[in-house]
Amino acid sequence: MKLPAGSTLPPLAQTLQIIANPTGFLADCAERYGDCFTLRVLGADSPPVVFFSHPDDLQAIFTTLADRLALGKVTHVFRPLTGDQSLIMQDGAQHQRQRQLLMPALHGESLRNCGELICQMTQQTCWPTGRTISVQAQMLEISLDVILRVLFGLQPGQRYFQLKVLLHRLLERINSPLYSVQFFLPPLQQDLGRLSPWGGFLRLRAEIDALIYAEIRERRAAPPGEDILAMLLAARDLAGQPLSDLELRDQLMTLLLLGHETTASGLSWVFYWLHRHPEILARLQAELESADPSPAALAQLPYLSAVCKEALRIYPIALIAQPRCVKQSLTLAGYEFDPGAVLIPCIYLAHRRPEAYPDPQQFRPERFLEAKSPYEYLPFGGGSRSCIGMALALFEMKLILASLLRQYEFCPTQPPPPLSRPARRGITFVPPGDLKLRVMGQRRATGRLAKSAG
Ligand code: HEM
Repeated sequence: MKLPAGSTLPPLAQTLQIIANPTGFLADCAERYGDCFTLRVLGADSPPVVFFSHPDDLQAIFTTLADRLALGKVTHVFRPLTGDQSLIMQDGAQHQRQRQLLMPALHGESLRNCGELICQMTQQTCWPTGRTISVQAQMLEISLDVILRVLFGLQPGQRYFQLKVLLHRLLERINSPLYSVQFFLPPLQQDLGRLSPWGGFLRLRAEIDALIYAEIRERRAAPPGEDILAMLLAARDLAGQPLSDLELRDQLMTLLLLGHETTASGLSWVFYWLHRHPEILARLQAELESADPSPAALAQLPYLSAVCKEALRIYPIALIAQPRCVKQSLTLAGYEFDPGAVLIPCIYLAHRRPEAYPDPQQFRPERFLEAKSPYEYLPFGGGSRSCIGMALALFEMKLILASLLRQYEFCPTQPPPPLSRPARRGITFVPPGDLKLRVMGQRRATGRLAKSAG
């Protein structure tokens, strides 16, 4: 098998480079080797990992070649968190079955039903004039509240707060490199008591599971609600079978983990860019001031949508889609790939192609006033494994942003620092530094500034 050219450094050195400076390393390789290149970035005995960013190659991976590809082992680092039954652990028919069960709960009518709730929850932030907020921390707080309410329909109460505290603790721990390394190295997964890292994780997970199972038990006995859990409880596959408790737990955990920090990171980027470009913020505020404030109308606003999309283009929070492993030999981009090769749709490089995005490093929402091809713009991946939460994430980002900008006037506490490389946070990439904004005043319902402080 003749592979596309790529780095000749030892695999361990390549792995360390992609961990230390992923955007820089990927951009260098694209400049040196072109549209596709081979790296060995999965440790000392890494298989060939081939990165693609040309729209034709991405289209082939997502469509015509999809049935020759399987889930790479990389996704398996999530197994201890999400469980074996999770959508992200499935392939083939079982994967299709689960997607078909989950889809309706995250689209259409059920999404429209939660618009009002997202706006209300954002409006309840009640930040007083003069308060300084950390954008990343506040976006995490709001998006965790939203996902808990939208998924479980949980009303703030004991179980809601317990779940929130425990999930928060889990996510904070996963963000520490020393803690997260144990998910990549199974030999470290030893329960040596509650003070050992793995022992601590297992106990925390057991506490979270107990709350989730208690909620599932209660909800099975209660009249049907309108939230995602209610839809999952009622869902039947083509053979008329419902989801088991274990499947429900694993799917809920998956949606909680993948649906919380991702949206918060996307929103952090939006605030980051808006406060680097006051003229874009002003244009967005003007659009919001004259808009019908219903969630359905806000979600349709062209400039608001364009701002969110451009933020997810310029630094996608996931630099790559899920790695696809070749299971049956195939030809792509003029190369033959044997079983075992890993193919990666590289979102970051696809979004930086100048023929699709002139001056790709510039933040220009206008680009998205026109539709883009799904093989040039893919912040949510593509094909049968594309992000199942895409519609919810975009809806949520637009409504949270619109509600905050309609309610508050913000000003950054410091001038924007020079652009540096994005920081890693859990499974996402976030803006460098911790953007802090000061609340300068509350706006009236019309969106006009009512009061400002010095
Ligand atoms: C701005 C927010 C988000 C971004 C940028 C994002 C991005 C992605 C990407 C790139 C993938 C991999 C797609 C592929 O391999 O082709 C993915 C998969 C996934 N995402 Fe998201 N995501 C976001 C929000 C969410 C939300 C809100 C949820 C759930 C409530 C969610 C649930 C999932 C799940 C379950 C998968 C796996 C799908 C499968 O394997 O079939 N994501 N996401």
